[in-house]
Amino acid sequence: MKVELRINGAIRTAELEPRKTLLDALRENFLLNGAHAGCEHGVCGACTVLVDGAPVRSCLMFAVQADGYDITTIEGLAPAPGELSVIQDAFCETHGLQCGYCTPGMILAAHALLQQTLTPSRDDIVEAISGNICRCTGYGQIVEAVQFAATRLQQSNAPPAHHRLPDHPGAKHDAPAKGVLEAASADKPVAETK
Ligand code: FES
Ligand code: FES
Repeated sequence: MKVELRINGAIRTAELEPRKTLLDALRENFLLNGAHAGCEHGVCGACTVLVDGAPVRSCLMFAVQADGYDITTIEGLAPAPGELSVIQDAFCETHGLQCGYCTPGMILAAHALLQQTLTPSRDDIVEAISGNICRCTGYGQIVEAVQFAATRLQQSNAPPAHHRLPDHPGAKHDAPAKGVLEAASADKPVAETK
């Protein structure tokens, strides 16, 4: 059947089997491979995308069920090809990834959290990423990355979070404001508290 989905601000169409998962449709039909297939049973969070701004496991959702919603994948967070969002850059700076398999899901979970608050507590961050499994990092640097991104976004004087801007629904809040990365270059990564 023909399906029309709004993905990263653009309307995309494809002929899909009704039983096809959103994860498989994103990867196979729309060539958005940032959503990773891990367990494919709703456990690991590697397949996380945002549906109307909320983290969702795309392996547990049929693509046809996504009709009418704003889907944001990790590809939709980058402000431009070759550039990184503030959160993506923070993960790089604090070594919040190793193999990177969990990273798109982690960043999208963090993005959803920082849409709600730019002053999350450590517990808030831990809870936000609690549905995403990382086999490599031990999570400490991921928490640090989210804290670091929150600090940078606070300093950017960015406009308030808003997910549904017409041209790029998922990325505006997390796009680097002009000068924010340069201004933040003197920052020290947030020390991890025990
Ligand atoms: S691949 Fe979807 S939760 Fe693991
Ligand atoms: S960085 Fe390897 S699974 Fe998280």
